[in-house]
Amino acid sequence: MIRFVLRQSAILMLFGVLAGAAQAAGDPAAGKAKFMTCTGCHAIPGYTNAYPTYRVPRLGGQHPDYVVAALKAYQAGERQHPTMHANAFSLNEQDMQDIAAYLAGFKPATEPNPIRGNAAAGKTKSAACAACHGPDGNGNIPLYPRLAGQHEDYLHKVLQDYQTGARKNPVMKGMATPLSAQDVADLAAYFASQPKGLVVVGQD
Ligand code: HEC
Ligand code: HEC
Repeated sequence: MIRFVLRQSAILMLFGVLAGAAQAAGDPAAGKAKFMTCTGCHAIPGYTNAYPTYRVPRLGGQHPDYVVAALKAYQAGERQHPTMHANAFSLNEQDMQDIAAYLAGFKPATEPNPIRGNAAAGKTKSAACAACHGPDGNGNIPLYPRLAGQHEDYLHKVLQDYQTGARKNPVMKGMATPLSAQDVADLAAYFASQPKGLVVVGQD
């Protein structure tokens, strides 16, 4: 009997270790502290980038692997944005993992985003995006960003950046190039309007 109990607890302990290992590599509490310098832009609802004008992206609930990849791209200058380059510059791998783990912990939005464009038209055009981003922009592939609930004007601007090559990604360049200006507006409206989406940090 005792041996049985011991074996049970050994198995439970092993499960505990495995479950721990399966979680994100970062420490959310450490990430929260490290995110303090980011809150001036990313934790203020509706805060806008000065030029060109668009809302700074929502990060609450974003996939951790994507957040780390984005920070590395800013750091390396592959993704060009002077402010984000400066903010990512001094982060090491652990800082990025911690911040990503903190951001992943936010609960999905309960209210859909108010939008200006034609979300219904965007829905019919979004089939090509579903394989990677999920039908509602809440896909679960870690390296592909969640789009649901993201700011409409940010999504709009980013799709244009892929078209012009200002933001470089071979996959998204291929997806964005055939889109008309109307398609871009409709798709941005559709994904921004999806419920259970991203939130502004601190607004969960
Ligand atoms: C001065 C304002 C400002 C500060 C401070 C700032 N950011 Fe940003 N951040 C932005 C803007 C604007 C963008 C969108 C840039 C672009 O178009 O690529 C952005 C983009 C991002 C993205 C990419 C989001 C996506 O959906 O691709 C991540 C991740 C990010 N920031 C994390 C951080 C972290 C972590 C910090 C703190 C270490 C930080 N930011 C500090 C303004 C800021
Ligand atoms: C084959 C997979 C794939 C398909 C299909 C795809 N995407 Fe993407 N998408 C990606 C990847 C990978 C990224 C991250 C690229 C990067 O780091 O710049 C991305 C990034 C994005 C972003 C930037 C999000 C952010 O937070 O900055 C937007 C917007 C986007 N995709 C919209 C779309 C739309 C709209 C479609 C359909 C017309 C689409 N995608 C189809 C893989 C895909």
